[in-house]
Amino acid sequence: MSRLIVVSNRVNPPTGKGDESVGGLAMALAAALREYSGIWFGWSGKTTTEFTGQLNMQKADGVTVATVDLEEGDYQEYYNGYANKTLWPLFHYRVDLTAYDRSFGEGYDRVNRRFAQTLLPLIEPDDIIWVHDYHLIPMARELRRLGVTNRIGFFLHIPWPAHQLVVTLPRHRPLVEALFHYDLVGFQTEESVQAFEGYVFNEVGGERTEDGRLTAFGQVTRAAAFPIGIDAEDFARIKESPRATRVYDRLMAHSVFRKMVVGVDRLDYSKGLEERLIGFERFLHDNPQARREVMLLQIAPISRDEVEAYQDLRGRLDGLIGRINGAYADMDYNPIRYLNRSYRRDELAGVYRASKAALVTPLRDGMNLVAKEYVASQTPYDPGVLILSRFAGAARQMKEALIINPNSPEEISDALTRALNMDIDERRRRFESLMDNVTRQDVTAWRDDFVAQLREPTPTPALTRQD
Ligand code: ADP
Ligand code: G6P
Repeated sequence: MSRLIVVSNRVNPPTGKGDESVGGLAMALAAALREYSGIWFGWSGKTTTEFTGQLNMQKADGVTVATVDLEEGDYQEYYNGYANKTLWPLFHYRVDLTAYDRSFGEGYDRVNRRFAQTLLPLIEPDDIIWVHDYHLIPMARELRRLGVTNRIGFFLHIPWPAHQLVVTLPRHRPLVEALFHYDLVGFQTEESVQAFEGYVFNEVGGERTEDGRLTAFGQVTRAAAFPIGIDAEDFARIKESPRATRVYDRLMAHSVFRKMVVGVDRLDYSKGLEERLIGFERFLHDNPQARREVMLLQIAPISRDEVEAYQDLRGRLDGLIGRINGAYADMDYNPIRYLNRSYRRDELAGVYRASKAALVTPLRDGMNLVAKEYVASQTPYDPGVLILSRFAGAARQMKEALIINPNSPEEISDALTRALNMDIDERRRRFESLMDNVTRQDVTAWRDDFVAQLREPTPTPALTRQD
């Protein structure tokens, strides 16, 4: 069988010690590569004064991890710049936070070129290459320029936005053209596929081929939805682990007369953290009897803290939490417990299980794996209730959650009231249906589906192009 080469900016094989960086991509890829003795290539997380292209190779759990350092200027323009100040906000519908500096785009192209050159010597003729996320859209074009003819697929972990947002990018055409150098382009949801096709058909006059692929820029590719999942089997194991049980017991002992609601997110403006807190404040305001009884545990590790929008958000959250706790706390009660740190996965499983409800309220999210982890951590005897934003990709699959609009404090407050008063039969019914989905559409199914479709031989463009 051919080898799989996975390429992503963030390369973070879990060590099992809980020191891996957080984020859906790293979690999913670590799980996805587990059964392939492939290569995982990307950024080392370190910067140097000058780019050397020196590969650092390590073997972890049968996977060869190959990383390269970034030059400081590249890191600023490519990672902090184009990836996190341009594409991330724009693709999450935050035009107000999007920076359009030309130098960011140049740095982005340069790093993609450098990554392609560094990866080239590792590629063997039968390898299939799978590139991930918005940092690396031009990777296939750069590899093709270097003569790579292997099958190359791309998966976008974040939403693909509406046509009218994409065209606010000064160089939107080359960005989209870059995707046509892949054999297969995967998105999280059908909605993203349709938004991508909307751009292709309406902006550049692309067409659909008879076999369902897309043609534009004189090239052909295939676009489809592959909703990502969690490693459900691994979660089933860790939720029974001694450490998960210890955390669960400890939290339960501290909340004998209290009900805990949980939120777990990177500290990111796409996650709707402010809206969640305001919704929780509304809940406390509307339900005086809940004031000493219900508490929110919000775990939010700092993310991308060199980017101003993230620093600003952090400041606003500190203020908001201070205000709510100031207004509703008592000598032995704090409505919000707020933690800016990461936890081991087994500890998180214990936290999820001890929580009567989870608030997953992103304003936009490609998928949201926390929603799936929360469900996977529950027990059928006494499952908690998932409150989920309609703007998370996960809402398309997790229909038995309480689906809310996170922009409405009233909807958040009402959903909390409903969740905390839901009878056991309804909770079980919802849990069983959600759990079925989390188990069936897990990370293994996602990987196998994508890789199988990427392997599929496709007719030559000359036979399919409609010209
Ligand atoms: P994103 O990829 O945008 O961060 P997801 O919800 O898809 O959002 O994935 C987040 C991942 O990061 C999940 O696997 C979650 O468990 C993990 N994570 C988030 N916060 C923490 C934390 N404080 N400690 C450990 N892992 C965390
Ligand atoms: C999201 C993105 C990933 C990214 C992760 C963490 O999941 O889709 O590509 O790795 O956030 O962000 P970071 O900037 O720390 O890699």
